[in-house]
Amino acid sequence: MAGRPIIIDCDPGQDDAINLLLAMSSPDELDILGITTVAGNVPLALTERNARQICDIAGRTDMKVFAGCERPMQRELLTAEHVHGKTGIDGVEITSPGTPLGEQHAVDFIIEALSTTAEPLTLVPTGPLTNIATAIERAPAILDNVAEIVLMGGAMREGGNHSPSAEFNILVDPHAADLVFRCGKPITVLGLDVTHQVLATPGRRDRIREINNDAGRATAGMLDFFNRHDTVKYGSLGAPLHDPCTVAFLLAPNLFEGKACNLTVETASELTMGHTAVDFWHVTDRPDNVTWIWSVDADGFYDLLIERLERYGDD
Ligand code: RIB
Ligand code: CA
Repeated sequence: MAGRPIIIDCDPGQDDAINLLLAMSSPDELDILGITTVAGNVPLALTERNARQICDIAGRTDMKVFAGCERPMQRELLTAEHVHGKTGIDGVEITSPGTPLGEQHAVDFIIEALSTTAEPLTLVPTGPLTNIATAIERAPAILDNVAEIVLMGGAMREGGNHSPSAEFNILVDPHAADLVFRCGKPITVLGLDVTHQVLATPGRRDRIREINNDAGRATAGMLDFFNRHDTVKYGSLGAPLHDPCTVAFLLAPNLFEGKACNLTVETASELTMGHTAVDFWHVTDRPDNVTWIWSVDADGFYDLLIERLERYGDD
């Protein structure tokens, strides 16, 4: 049985990389039509290269990978090497990827895929929303073939992680995010409120370290690096594994709880630029435009992640 057709748009980033490994471990449930990359955690030249190296590690050198927008729609690019390291996926040895880079611009691939698909597609963005928004702006009719968008971004109770009031993916390109959240399609949002519940604690990292394959070793190495910044910043036992919440939601939605809400993005104030105003208690008459995920079974999440990583062949 062919899996649900999806396109993953990402800015690897260790957590994006682990999300890709989780997605590629599950071909019966997810048919990845392509991986599109965007500037975010590190510049585009690195995010596209990193995505291709992860495909090598997954044994999927056949995967279609495309480079997209190298800067936000209106603002200057913000990057996060202080979190992800100079390469973006510090924690794994950098190699020259065998997986080729597609010739098409990622935005053109997204438009073509959505214009020619026989069935609606699910979009899974885990970085700034520049590629997705640019595709929608350039070819609005593609929305007719979007089944839903399942994205990592935003925050409500958790405040901001890259400014006092904004989460990184939305802050980098708030205008792209605003356009996506107004597009009218079903959007499931996994923001910091839920990703901060799935911490890569020592016990969980020990379990991942025991996985005897390249995907497990790469994940363990990336988590060791990814952990160092957030455990100091938050004083927590582990870093939040943000992006894999998106594919975990697709694979096991029962692990999560969400609520229909309005989410509106700040695009005017420099002080609160990129803030996601989530009307969780419906105190306004703004229409519900997202499903805001607010809870997750963290143990179930890591059981799923580990079970799927173990599916990659042992060495
Ligand atoms: O705020 C966390 C998000 O920003 C994650 O997607 C991480 O990879 C970075 O892109
Ligand atoms: Ca990301």
